[in-house]
Amino acid sequence: MSNPAGVAAERIPRHIAIIMDGNGRWARERGLPRIEGHRRGSEAVRACTAACIKAGVSHLTLYAFSKENWQRPPDEVKALMNLLDRFLAERTTEIMKRNIRLHAIGHLDDLPANTRRRLDSVREKSAGNTALTLTLALSYGARTEITDAARAIARAVRDGDLDPDALSEETIASRLYTAGLPDPDLLIRTSGEMRVSNFLLWQISYAEIVVTAKLWPEFGEEDLFAAIREYAGRHRRYGGI
Ligand code: IPE
Ligand code: IPE
Ligand code: MG
Repeated sequence: MSNPAGVAAERIPRHIAIIMDGNGRWARERGLPRIEGHRRGSEAVRACTAACIKAGVSHLTLYAFSKENWQRPPDEVKALMNLLDRFLAERTTEIMKRNIRLHAIGHLDDLPANTRRRLDSVREKSAGNTALTLTLALSYGARTEITDAARAIARAVRDGDLDPDALSEETIASRLYTAGLPDPDLLIRTSGEMRVSNFLLWQISYAEIVVTAKLWPEFGEEDLFAAIREYAGRHRRYGGI
């Protein structure tokens, strides 16, 4: 039985993580302001989310704003926060209609207070939805995430709640922002850059990586399906033979 992506249902990745890159280049190529690239990028999010549901992917995690992205010019940061706010305000109905559970990881306290409130409200409202868990990585940095986990573990040991000898990979995973989410099976990066830029460093240990030259604003359903087909054709060995 082949599904819309053209591969057998059992070869569909359960969790896809995407580094959505290339908004600025997309705009520059067209002589448009960078923010126009971000606006089109936020539309690509809608198409990609719908395509994941169609293909039967249950988890999609999108790198929307990194810890490092705060260093960009204040106008661009402000515009990105506004887009996030609008995304949350305008897409709630669609999120509910499509049965999407919205989730977020990162230093969410760094977000503007009104955006944070909106985010929490959509998360609460959609908590029982089951078609797709859509996780937005916001003010996210993987080294910060691992450092936060180390701090929490150190505290638990100090307080006598955790025996250092009992510490396992699961202990660490359960302290990461992604606790409860499966590890990504497929990591996609758009715009051709061959790097992970501090995204989900622990969780992508055995993810298959697909880098596409397509810039994020032009990444559509067919591109997602093509990445899924490439994934489905890979042989995941996990260190075996
Ligand atoms: C990705 O596009 C969006 C964010 C990082 C917020 P970029 O803005 O990084 O686009 P390029 O890399 O400059 O083309
Ligand atoms: C990674 O893209 C962060 C997001 C997609 C949100 P960047 O454009 O910020 O990463 P670098 O600068 O190319 O490493
Ligand atoms: Mg970039």
